[in-house]
Amino acid sequence: MKILLTGSAGFIGFHTAKMLLERGDTVIGFDNFNEYYDPELKRARNKILEGYDNFTIIRGDLKNVDDLKKAFNLLNEPTKQRTNDETRVCHLAAQAGVRHSIENPDIFIQDNIQGTNNIFELCKEYNVGGVTYASSSSIYGDNEQSPFKEEHKADSPMSLYGMTKKCNELQAYTYHSLHGVKSTGLRFFTVYGPYGRPDMALFLFANWITKGEPMQIFGEGKMQRDFTFVEDIAAGIVAALDKNYDYEIFNLGGGKTEELMDYITTLEKALGKVGEKEMLPMQPGDVVSTSADISKAQKMLGYNPQTQIAEGIPKFVEWYKQYYQC
Ligand SMILES: NC(=O)c1ccc[n+]([C@@H]2O[C@H](COP(=O)([O-])OP(=O)(O)OC[C@H]3O[C@@H](n4cnc5c(N)ncnc54)[C@H](O)[C@@H]3O)[C@@H](O)[C@H]2O)c1
Repeated sequence: MKILLTGSAGFIGFHTAKMLLERGDTVIGFDNFNEYYDPELKRARNKILEGYDNFTIIRGDLKNVDDLKKAFNLLNEPTKQRTNDETRVCHLAAQAGVRHSIENPDIFIQDNIQGTNNIFELCKEYNVGGVTYASSSSIYGDNEQSPFKEEHKADSPMSLYGMTKKCNELQAYTYHSLHGVKSTGLRFFTVYGPYGRPDMALFLFANWITKGEPMQIFGEGKMQRDFTFVEDIAAGIVAALDKNYDYEIFNLGGGKTEELMDYITTLEKALGKVGEKEMLPMQPGDVVSTSADISKAQKMLGYNPQTQIAEGIPKFVEWYKQYYQC
């Protein structure tokens, strides 16, 4: 297959692109290497991808249709035939981060909503075989039914970020019903692992512990999360690209809900150091608990997360120590 993968220099995009490249697919990466977090980490991921002959990177912005067309032209050249079953778009580029969205609403609307609309519009124009796109557990907001199931009502996101992801699911629905664009939305649950995002909890905690600074633990440490190891997520994304359903939405979680404090203890063990803890109240936009029911993905995608935190966190730490030489 030929896959246009947006957000290829990002955390999840990098691992997914690598998995696709290793099995021999052609991947056209697309990313603007924005500066929300250290772009050096994005360049390091991209450098690894550029080591594969079957990878091409287009540097561009989702908001710029001409940039996007450069990538779509590579996907559907030279014939632009009516139906191109061997082509896919894997749309992972987005402004991510709940707190970041509260402070920067405009860029979330532009990148996540307008940018995603540009993707769907071009998928229609280029007759792409199907789209798999990133949604998020954030769309469930403070849903009281647990574990979260795809059919639960999810109309009350707690953050602007969650709202943009819910909007992406509606865009997918409209492009499918109006224009027959096939799509699969994946609601990811707190992804962690090597080459992880510096704004996410595991990375922040690791930083504070190694530097001997107090860890800021929100929600007084009483939060629960369905943590998902990044290679399990990548396997789920690849399965969704292969199955290419007409219109579906799946939860992709780790299959187990963990206490935040157990996550921290596992990290401390892996680092061989106990951190000082500063307990703080919940932050706006955060939810107390996320828990995924993954039975639909297990049944329809063969999704089967393999890595629990006892194994996944040491893998993250191994990468972290080597990358930051600490
Ligand atoms: N990491 C998680 O736990 C998690 C959870 C739920 C959903 N998601 C979603 O999964 C996707 C990937 O997340 P991630 O953790 O890899 O984030 P990331 O920030 O590491 O990756 C996103 C990439 O998209 C790029 N990008 C952003 N705006 C762009 C634009 N306008 N044009 C071109 N490129 C742009 C960024 O430069 C970045 O490299 C996102 O859609 C995110 O919302 C992630």
